[in-house]
Amino acid sequence: MHKYKLLSKKGEGTFSEVIKAQCIKTGRFVAIKRMKARFTSVEQVNNLREIQALRRLSNHPNVIHLLEVIYDRPSGRLSLVFELMDLNIYELIKGRRHYLSERRVSMYMYSLMKSIEVMHRHGIFHRDIKPENILVCGDQLRLADFGSCRGIYSKPPFTEYISTRWYRAPECCLTDGYYNHKMDIWGVGCVMFEVLSLYPLFPGTDEADQVAKIHAVLGTPDPDLLKRMKRYSRSNHISFDFPPQNGCGLKKMLPHATPECLDLLTKLLQYNPDKRISARAALKHPYFREWRERDELLEAQSHASSPREAGTASRPVSMRRTGSNLSETVNIVKPAGAPAHPSLGHPMRPGREFKPSQVVAPHQVTAPKLPMVSSGPVQKTDTARSNKSDRSKYGKISLPHVGGAKNSGLEVVASGVSSGSRRVM
Ligand SMILES: Nc1ncnc2c1ncn2[C@@H]1O[C@H](COP(=O)(O)OP(=O)(O)OP(=O)(O)O)[C@@H](O)[C@H]1O
Ligand SMILES: [Mg+2]
Repeated sequence: MHKYKLLSKKGEGTFSEVIKAQCIKTGRFVAIKRMKARFTSVEQVNNLREIQALRRLSNHPNVIHLLEVIYDRPSGRLSLVFELMDLNIYELIKGRRHYLSERRVSMYMYSLMKSIEVMHRHGIFHRDIKPENILVCGDQLRLADFGSCRGIYSKPPFTEYISTRWYRAPECCLTDGYYNHKMDIWGVGCVMFEVLSLYPLFPGTDEADQVAKIHAVLGTPDPDLLKRMKRYSRSNHISFDFPPQNGCGLKKMLPHATPECLDLLTKLLQYNPDKRISARAALKHPYFREWRERDELLEAQSHASSPREAGTASRPVSMRRTGSNLSETVNIVKPAGAPAHPSLGHPMRPGREFKPSQVVAPHQVTAPKLPMVSSGPVQKTDTARSNKSDRSKYGKISLPHVGGAKNSGLEVVASGVSSGSRRVM
């Protein structure tokens, strides 16, 4: 840690404190995420889902870049060093009076969808998609906070109380942990609405109110779907006697949205996860046409300029605007009666919730081997820790082996300890 000068606090989450810092040698600004939990071994650190997921995804342009992992064995403190971003999406929209331009919204949503697509393609789902976990820096958007992620191929039931209430998909609210990667898509739908309207779509005050708020907009679902969900809800933590209603619909809530925008939003916010659009399909949606074509053009240009293809004609692509200069706002002022965005300290805005009594048998699958600083007996503290708070936040992730994952160049830097052959700070 002594290679960084700590400058100011950048953010605080349930599990960590994030500090803006500067590398003394290079002058580079970074964000250091100091975990509140203590860790007893390098192996335990290596097994953290957040680190494992970032090792696989961190070189994607829409996933936060993890630069270094610093573990201080004597104190058990763990710090993750990330590239520094300007602010999170919640900070971007909080208190705004003017809507973001449609173009900027679609660009952010395209970037977010690309991060979800690459994550799902690599067999990981995030489980805590919300504005605070999506970071921006100018036109760049990166998905962050992989601390709650799981392997897509793990078998449910998963932890019930996952994700943050307002962004929690109906299947997460209604079943005892029978959900899958489509819950991330629901979260993206909620974020998209919020970025468009500058207020949260389903600001439930508790789990029952959360479901009621969803029904008030989307209507109660097909009784067969509810019956199926009820079968996976043995704990009776929520009553399924929902009075049938139609819901006001998304269109009424977003009078300034284009038909393409509403169509995508409707597909992201399908009640039935099986009918909810996948990230891959969403990237092909007409709403993203401009950004998709821009990507294709850039790809074609990079092929054309690669030595192998120099002198050959590049593949034809339609020519559209390729610049990324975005007008900051459109001249639409939020209507006077529109709901205000609750501020972070607002008692309504939910943080992470836990259900202490909840006991779900974890699906124990050994994580694929990743670079370790030192080997030793596996610590049992993951389970002990997770019983105390959220088991899902810490613990091994069951991930399919991905070629190149080991070559991410990241290794745990153990600070203040002699750790065999690896670098010691
Ligand atoms: N690389 C970064 N650059 C700038 N700010 C960051 C960065 N990483 C995190 N932050 C800020 O710190 C906050 C907390 O970070 P993060 O979500 O990773 O922590 P957490 O403890 O896991 O949070 P949660 O309560 O969601 O579980 C973010 O919402 C963001 O505002
Ligand atoms: Mg977070």
